[in-house]
Amino acid sequence: MVDKKELYRRVIPQAIALIGASDDQIANMANLSALLHQECGWWWTGFYRVQAGELVLGPFQGPVACTRIPYGKGVCGTAWKASETIVVPDVEQFPGHIACSSLSRSEIVVPLRRKGEIIGVLDIDSQELNAFDETDARCLERICAELSCRVNPELRDYVEAAILPRYDNFDKGHQRDHAETVIAQALQLATWYDVDPDLVYTAAAYHDTGLCEDRKTHHTVSARIIREDARLREWFSPEQIRIIAEAAEDHRASSDHAPRTIYGRLIAEADRQIIPGTVICRTIQYGLSHYPELDKEGHWERTLEHLHEKYAEGGYLKLWIPQSPNAARLEELRALIRDEARLRALFESFYQAEIEK
Ligand code: SME
Repeated sequence: MVDKKELYRRVIPQAIALIGASDDQIANMANLSALLHQECGWWWTGFYRVQAGELVLGPFQGPVACTRIPYGKGVCGTAWKASETIVVPDVEQFPGHIACSSLSRSEIVVPLRRKGEIIGVLDIDSQELNAFDETDARCLERICAELSCRVNPELRDYVEAAILPRYDNFDKGHQRDHAETVIAQALQLATWYDVDPDLVYTAAAYHDTGLCEDRKTHHTVSARIIREDARLREWFSPEQIRIIAEAAEDHRASSDHAPRTIYGRLIAEADRQIIPGTVICRTIQYGLSHYPELDKEGHWERTLEHLHEKYAEGGYLKLWIPQSPNAARLEELRALIRDEARLRALFESFYQAEIEK
């Protein structure tokens, strides 16, 4: 069995390097299909591009394929219409599947989005049933975002050599992988907007650099580091540097202080992970350390109250980017808040684990 996470850990940096080497989208699609096809051993790997209202065959690797797919037709046209990734475990079970090759048994289609519009799809077929999973979906979405929001490779080289290593000195929750996750997430959210990918990338890369001074004011320190970094002036105008610095400063925006620009909203949202279990666990931890006088029932009441005030329908939490995966996770959390018996059971197990620590 291939370890997919390991495979993508190798392939994603190669994909980013290839995209950096050319700003021609067809050349990049050609190289990406070759890279993915060779590294992952799929049956068919390629792109279709939106041309005059239909999908037209683009660069690919594998056997010959159909040249045109209408909007809403087949797996490709359906992914385009839905504007989301579709994983098909068994193509025979997918109504309307277009069979270009009888040997294809499962398929994944990832839309390629730019400025909120679908400009094409990445389509991959396997001869095995059930070949694609969540890991493929998330990693291929990442590669597609890098392709449509291409970052200047010289800027990236500088940031990787001089800025990201600074995170090695920070706490466990803010190591280099945190900055890389925020970069990846911010670029994916950026595909929905008419924004400059270099600005998004830079704001995401620098957003927590201010942790070198202190935690409380780190966002303002990050902004200062951006304003004072002379190298950034090679790539950005003073106005752009101001926008990047504001976006980094606004990443800690709360409900009473919204980010000033779309760049700030992208970074704030990319930095946030609303994971239901984590939210509940953190709420309990906060209660235990700030209200030591409460007994278990007191903590349960406080947890309920906090969850209702912040996360329930009408709560004060705001999502900055509606297309963010946080939207679906917030729905999950809301369902949990409505189901008090399930919530209580989770509370019991997290509470027990905390007091036994
Ligand atoms: N199966 C696709 C058509 C493209 S080929 O697989 C390369 C679909 O149903 O859209």
